[in-house]
Amino acid sequence: MDKVTINQHVSFSKMIQGFWRTHTWEWSSQQLNKYLHELVDRGITTMDHADIYGDYTCEGIFGEALKLSPKLREKLEIVSKCGIVLPSDELSWTNGHRYDHTKAHIERSVNRSLTELNVDYLDSLLIHRPSPLMDPNEITEALKELVTAGKVKSFGVSNFNKSQYDLLNNNLVCDKLHITLNQLELSPYTLDALDDGTINHMYKDEVKVMAWSPLAGGKLFSSEDAKAQRIMNIIEPLAQKYQVTASGIIMAWLNKHPAQVMPVLGTHQISRIDDALAGFNITLTDQEWFDIYTASLGHDIP
Ligand SMILES: NC(=O)c1ccc[n+]([C@@H]2O[C@H](COP(=O)([O-])OP(=O)(O)OC[C@H]3O[C@@H](n4cnc5c(N)ncnc54)[C@H](OP(=O)(O)O)[C@@H]3O)[C@@H](O)[C@H]2O)c1
Repeated sequence: MDKVTINQHVSFSKMIQGFWRTHTWEWSSQQLNKYLHELVDRGITTMDHADIYGDYTCEGIFGEALKLSPKLREKLEIVSKCGIVLPSDELSWTNGHRYDHTKAHIERSVNRSLTELNVDYLDSLLIHRPSPLMDPNEITEALKELVTAGKVKSFGVSNFNKSQYDLLNNNLVCDKLHITLNQLELSPYTLDALDDGTINHMYKDEVKVMAWSPLAGGKLFSSEDAKAQRIMNIIEPLAQKYQVTASGIIMAWLNKHPAQVMPVLGTHQISRIDDALAGFNITLTDQEWFDIYTASLGHDIP
């Protein structure tokens, strides 16, 4: 599996495992530890988390599995996110649903993530969502201190549009820092980031793009969704032509974009990981790429 350079300290695997759904897998630490080894054996070394996943439980589940193989951490790149607050009976400061990008909250969240994940540093910290109240000066101060303390090796954002990215990045560059990643919802089902110029803007600034829900959270496989059906009517014959599954074609579709898009998959079935990986050996023609794109739009391009 190819690596993508994020900065001078960090490279990610081209395909990434997401842990948003981990609390639903109902796995023992031993089962999750085995799955992590299976991923690493396939070159999938980048693991995507957020403080809030599973009502603040998923990082802890991962940390327990990592404890069983302490040396495994050196082979992984661990990403986490902060900035969303959800109500939780367990945590005293989560008394509501809001965004919190204050320095105090960013530091509190990172310190908790490190403890839960059972690691000393994050390879990347992402600001999970933009906030109408975000103050780029305060976020910059927090990130600067986290980098200096060695707790974070790189940082980025998620779900930021062009202007939200510019607001923060213009402030960061004054301190010789910069955003390296933007994690965006992107799949053949969800084209917004492609069409609204966000991905172009990231490409211009050499900011790497992580695509969350690259299979539309499984919706692409639903026979009851008319848009998914339109897209799958194009994908299925291509899967036959290239001798892969539909998810392989979806990976090839994402991989064709010049911005080095890194899909963040949410499956917990290793056979489905293998299906997706097979897509990285395929190059779709431009026409095939556009056939999937226009099926998603629901009309022809001008
Ligand atoms: N930054 C953000 O705001 C944000 C938001 C959402 C998610 N994320 C990240 O993105 C990651 C992935 O999200 P996602 O879980 O929605 O991604 P996804 O890969 O699009 O969907 C995975 C889901 O689809 C199911 N599925 C059904 N058929 C499948 C098939 N043939 N192949 C593979 N999966 C199939 C999987 O079930 P099985 O497990 O049974 O295979 C799983 O529940 C999350 O874990 C998280 O790290 C980020």
